[in-house]
This record gives sequence, structure tokens and C-alpha cells, in this order.
Amino acid sequence: MAFELPPLPYGTDALQPHVSEQTLKFHHGKHHKAYVDTLNTLIKDTPKAKLSLEDLIMQSAKDAKQAAIFNNAGQHWNHSFFWRCMKPHGGGKPTGDVALAIDRSFGGLDGFKEAFKKAAIGQFGSGWAWLIADKDQLKILATANADLPLAHRQTALLTCDVWEHAYYLDYQNRRPDFVQAFLDQLVDWEFVAQNLAQMSRSHAA
Ligand SMILES: [Fe+2]
Repeated sequence: MAFELPPLPYGTDALQPHVSEQTLKFHHGKHHKAYVDTLNTLIKDTPKAKLSLEDLIMQSAKDAKQAAIFNNAGQHWNHSFFWRCMKPHGGGKPTGDVALAIDRSFGGLDGFKEAFKKAAIGQFGSGWAWLIADKDQLKILATANADLPLAHRQTALLTCDVWEHAYYLDYQNRRPDFVQAFLDQLVDWEFVAQNLAQMSRSHAA
């Protein structure tokens, strides 16, 4: 089974004015699609074509000869996750276990936002900013290019794409403004809560 581009969980105009329809159409329909198509081409008619996306990522993560597979598989995973991290009229405040964990780990929502922004803005060149769960603590992480927490056996709760293709049409070089809009207007805290609950269940199992 070849990998497929997942549909966006909302319309291409649904995140306006924070992410324009043009950006979302290009980002999902061109950039993400290209990662999926390239990955399928790379693994076609090889034993790797039978692996799950997660297994492909883990197997290629530490092998320089498989960098092309890792990069395209990672970017497919990252984008599929990123779309679900946002929703129309998102942002606001987390509740329940996520709010408690953020208070415990960052001293509150403002502390979390500052740390996340710092990582997102400080990532030199292309990459991703992440909120991850590490045992009982939440942590902030920045990764370069296609790298992702899964490759380091960490659990992703939230991510923001800080490749220029994510924001350049709307914000030009103003990455901080894009990250601010992501945090204040777009984050789907319910998705973060689902990811945290899933991790707690798998640890309890
Ligand atoms: Fe992207």
C-alpha cells in the first residue's frame, strides 16, 4: 500500500486570516504531497514498502544511506501531525490534564508560550518546534529539517512548522508573528489533550 496524502481536517480557507488559503493550498497540496510522492517512489518495489510510516522512520533514522527515506517519511509524519495541531478559532487556554501539566512544567501558559516561541524562532533554518512529553514532564524541543521526536523515542504533543514555506507568503521573514498567531489563534488544545491521554494509556498498559 502506497502512502497517501491525508485530507486536511478543515477547508483550505478555514485558518484565515492567520494562514491564507494560498499558503495552505501550497503547503498541503504541493509541499506535503511532494514528500508523500517522493517517499512512495523511494520505497516502491522494495521490502520497505510493507513497513508502517513509524517503522520506516525508526529504521532510517540512524542510517546516513537512508537519509532520503528518513527526510520524506519524517516530513510526511510531521505534516500529517501538524495539520491536526491547528483548528479554526483555536488558541485560547488548555484545560484539564494539559493545563495542569503546563502549569507544572512551565509555570503557566505564558511560560509555555515564551519557551515555545524561543525554540521556534531560535531554530536556525528549516525545522519544527515541539511540545513533547518526557515521563511526567512536558518539554520544548526544536528539530532541524525533517527530524522529529519519534526518532528519539519521545512523544510529540504539539508541533509548529517553521520551514519558510509555512509562513513566507503571509508573513515574509516575520517568523515570530507566525508563531505568535499559531499559539494565540490556531492551536487545537483538544488534540494536545488526546495525545497526552494516549501516552498515559500506553504507559499504563
Ligand atoms: Fe511544511
